[in-house]
Amino acid sequence: MKYSTLQKVLHALSALTIIWLLMSGFYAGLISEDAALKRLIGELNVSVSLSLAPFFLLRLCVSFGRGYGALVGVKNLMPWLVFFVHTMMYVSVVIVLISGVFMMDRPIIFFNVVTFPQPLSSVDMTGLFGRIHTPACGVLAALITLHVVAVIKHQLSGQSIIKRMFS
Ligand code: HEM
Ligand code: HEM
Repeated sequence: MKYSTLQKVLHALSALTIIWLLMSGFYAGLISEDAALKRLIGELNVSVSLSLAPFFLLRLCVSFGRGYGALVGVKNLMPWLVFFVHTMMYVSVVIVLISGVFMMDRPIIFFNVVTFPQPLSSVDMTGLFGRIHTPACGVLAALITLHVVAVIKHQLSGQSIIKRMFS
């Protein structure tokens, strides 16, 4: 599979942003006890994740499901599994983005430039989306770990797929 420059740039941009959001988000949510740091990460990450949204939408347009054509007729399970994991990564990012917006129980402040009202006012509904956001982040983190381990395994066995996506 060959990737266009746009696909490579969008992959690198979303990989960096998503890895930052997952690591800092779980650190703030589950590990840190520093209230000021938790608030800072919470506020920063709302703006960072909203900045990612249009780029990720563009990425969905240029990449989502594109590997399917090359798979038709393939009997080997492995390429189908890789395609499935890639597709699930896209699906979980979309669920995480949407649940993030709908879980907001306060106004959405974008880098102190624009403020949007929270879309839902019912505490039951924001709570429901909050209960979707955290496990969806967990699934995404697991899929990304699997993805990166697979890339490293390929690299170590002499098949450089890194070059395909990063050069
Ligand atoms: C350090 C982190 C990462 C590395 C080294 C990496 C590496 C790669 C490589 C080498 C490929 C090409 C695989 C092939 O052609 O067989 C690829 C594809 C892909 N990666 Fe990553 N990746 C990383 C992070 C991520 C993250 C965080 C996501 C989450 C959305 C992601 C989603 C994808 C998807 C969906 C593909 C399939 C091609 C596409 O649709 O763009 N990757 N990655
Ligand atoms: C790909 C995008 C996103 C990723 C990877 C991500 C990741 C995370 C993670 C790992 C947590 C910690 C989970 C926990 O504490 O249980 C978290 C919490 C949170 N996320 Fe997201 N998130 C994303 C998008 C969004 C969006 C778009 C919004 C809202 C605009 C949002 C709002 C929140 C809020 C409000 C919290 C709870 C922490 C707080 O109260 O500040 N997230 N997110």
